[in-house]
Amino acid sequence: MALIPFAWLRALKPLLWPLRVLAARGWLREADIDFCLARMHPALRLNRVFARVAARQWVAEDMLQLSLQANGNWAGATPGQHLQLFVEREGVRLSRTYSLTSVQPGGRLQVAIKLQAGGRVSPFLLEHLAVGDLLELGPVQGEMNWPQANEGVLLLAAGSGITPLLGLLRQALAKGFSAPITLLHYVREQGQRAFVEELQALQGQYANLQVQWSLTAEANEAAVLNGRFNAAHLQALNATAPGNVLACGPAGFVSQVQQWWQGAQLPGVLQVEAFTPPALLALDGVRAVQLGFARSHQQRPADNQRSLLEWAEAQGLQPAHGCRQGICASCTCTLLSGTVRDMRSGALFSEPGQPIRLCVSAAHSDVEIDL
Ligand code: FES
Repeated sequence: MALIPFAWLRALKPLLWPLRVLAARGWLREADIDFCLARMHPALRLNRVFARVAARQWVAEDMLQLSLQANGNWAGATPGQHLQLFVEREGVRLSRTYSLTSVQPGGRLQVAIKLQAGGRVSPFLLEHLAVGDLLELGPVQGEMNWPQANEGVLLLAAGSGITPLLGLLRQALAKGFSAPITLLHYVREQGQRAFVEELQALQGQYANLQVQWSLTAEANEAAVLNGRFNAAHLQALNATAPGNVLACGPAGFVSQVQQWWQGAQLPGVLQVEAFTPPALLALDGVRAVQLGFARSHQQRPADNQRSLLEWAEAQGLQPAHGCRQGICASCTCTLLSGTVRDMRSGALFSEPGQPIRLCVSAAHSDVEIDL
């Protein structure tokens, strides 16, 4: 039970600076300070960012928007960026990365979460996270930004790729961006047209905005567009020569957009963000190796095919992890000895003390890691 209300946390931040100084000088441990602060309120911490769920809103059949109120440690962000949300499930700390759809003063922010069927985090967040619950937030990342020049902008989104683009679009319209904007969103079915009511309302309000959807899994005779991204869609929308293009979606979609952009040789700038990584490289022949988990004082025979994260879990260990795709860095661990292979690029690493991402690293020789 909290001794102080959540609403006081932001105001308390300046009062914590003496503790910050003591922690920075090594005279107190941050973990001990946090333990005491959390007695007053579970979201009161020296540096860690926690947020309270202020509202839940379904914005598509399979997407929920969360409105969050952060504690005083939130340093801000810009729409178009993304951050990690942490949850603990069955004793394992998990995280996933979600895009910011809105950032407001006073620590108010919104993220949108798409259901990943069979996932470990999104079904929990969508079904069980309630208004008033607390979440820990990770660092904010992402470079995508709205073009500075007042030239036409083409926004291309697939699936949950709509979320960072919506954040940027909302901000640009609110600031008075007046050049033509075309937003084309690819979804499998009608019900997955996230934020459809808001986007239609914006289209009615701003004469320079046109929004269209293309259904990729169901042919709809009434729809203007059907099927996956192709240049004919842009012709249908009279958007063949935009000044700037922003595209976000799965890696395959982003790659198609990049190929179109290279072929079209248009002036302007293309910004892309893919939220699934390229496929992992096939490894060379199977080789037996020995894995050592130093902190757990455990050893096990393994091979060079599966990731170190999978082997650690097979050993009964529970390393922190999030995306399992080499993106979020939650599974980063220190290599103590041996050689590991980055399963995405094939690069080899053998420097002791090197940070490695367990989910995309495989043993290349006998390996010991700090786990
Ligand atoms: S779990 Fe996200 S980088 Fe490994």
